[in-house]
Amino acid sequence: MAPPLARLVLVVLAAAVPLLAAPAAAATAATVFPKEALPTKSGYLPIPPANASLFFAFYEATDPVTPPASTPLLLWLQGGPGCSGLVGNFFELGPYFVNPDGETLSRNPFAWNRRFGLLFIDNPLGTGFSAAPSPADIPTNQSVVAAHILAALQSLYSLDPTLRARPFFLTGESYAGKYVPAAGAHILDANAALPEAQRVNLRGVAIGNGLTHPVAQVATHADSAYFLGLVNARQKRELESLQSEAVSLTLAERWVAASDARGKVLARLQNLTGLATLYDYAKQRDYATDAVGVFLNRAESKSALGARGDVAWEECSDAVGAAMHGDVMRSVVPQAESLLRRTRVLLYQGVRDLRDGVVSTEAWLAGVRWDGLRAFQDAQRAVWRTGDGELAGYVQRSGALAHVVVYGAGHLVPADNGRAAQEMIEGWVLGTGPFGRVGHGDGVRSAA
Ligand SMILES: *[C@@H]1O[C@H](CO)[C@@H](O)[C@H](O)[C@H]1NC(C)=O
Ligand SMILES: *[C@@H]1O[C@H](CO)[C@@H](O)[C@H](O)[C@H]1NC(C)=O
Ligand SMILES: *[C@@H]1O[C@H](CO)[C@@H](O)[C@H](O)[C@H]1NC(C)=O
Repeated sequence: MAPPLARLVLVVLAAAVPLLAAPAAAATAATVFPKEALPTKSGYLPIPPANASLFFAFYEATDPVTPPASTPLLLWLQGGPGCSGLVGNFFELGPYFVNPDGETLSRNPFAWNRRFGLLFIDNPLGTGFSAAPSPADIPTNQSVVAAHILAALQSLYSLDPTLRARPFFLTGESYAGKYVPAAGAHILDANAALPEAQRVNLRGVAIGNGLTHPVAQVATHADSAYFLGLVNARQKRELESLQSEAVSLTLAERWVAASDARGKVLARLQNLTGLATLYDYAKQRDYATDAVGVFLNRAESKSALGARGDVAWEECSDAVGAAMHGDVMRSVVPQAESLLRRTRVLLYQGVRDLRDGVVSTEAWLAGVRWDGLRAFQDAQRAVWRTGDGELAGYVQRSGALAHVVVYGAGHLVPADNGRAAQEMIEGWVLGTGPFGRVGHGDGVRSAA
């Protein structure tokens, strides 16, 4: 060990060298994007239409417990519609987070690429760094989104053929409650018609605080708020009448008006409660994601990530939001049901979310047409604690379905309770911890 003074001198010298030897931009680039925070691979995955592509960032597992060839691969999709997957990467579950200064990064101790390869895609086309060749190319429905996701995966597998055989899991949150069932069902349907060498090895899907069956979910806000004490009985009735309007318009398939009506429910709820955000009733301020945009719009960050320098990164794209507006109230429950019959499904919600929370998910789950539903509803809801003994939430599972309620979290579960989120995803994928005991033979270890 060097004596303290010598160490201090070395540190000062090391800090001074780049300033003296290199132009300021190079010094900034190194500080802005430390090498260890770089994706293993990133760039663009070609998809139809011609000349379109989706931006991706892939991080290999840092401490896998499985051999490389069978280490699971997770794709994370952000919500919106139109919010960038890089919010997930740099604010929720990636290996590094952007600090509030918008300039520097910190290691995330609860990264989802500890045990698994982790892939972020800016989806749908038009989102984040995935600029659309023309506005007309932005998807307006889930069939196109699903086809794009499959095409992007096939492009990724062409880029690195060793990835294809690894167990693949589709994950995401919020509006990904649409994308994940749509893409998952599409992948399994496509697999049936593809030779084995061209299939996607889909082993399960996970949805956090998802919007999946809006006609049922939109009817739950008044109850959630009333039973939390956030509105009184008269305000509850007012919200119920706004909700009924959204339900009627949905049943009448007046998709744009129905989506507007849902917007009115949420705006009124926001107004009545005075909350900083409906995404988390315990927060005094909204999720502080702005720094991610400051960071990603630096030329050094774009170039380090292999993103197009001419694309201004937006956290959520208004153009995509507008293109998908008529999709908002449409259901993907048939796709979710088909996944329950063919693969494993994890639904998890942060308990403090008033938009797509626990009650909202249970409302559509209660109506699914799936043989396992009764057994699932009769299954015990177990108290779940993290390894250090903290209350993490509740786990209920039976057959293909696991439902997890995450304590101490709102809409962005991995951002609010990283430890619980990491234990949950690792346990569910590998069939260990709260997902191991009963032994449905449904973890990767037993299935692989
Ligand atoms: C494809 O996109 C790139 C990048 O935007 C552009 O430079 C190129 O001209 C486009 N090619 C065609 C055939 O549209
Ligand atoms: C989805 O959008 C595409 C492109 O606009 C269209 O061709 C297709 O018919 C739509 N699918 C559904 C189910 O609406
Ligand atoms: C709710 O809406 C009313 C009427 O537009 C407005 O005066 C009030 O400031 C709003 N309250 C909050 C908390 O946003």
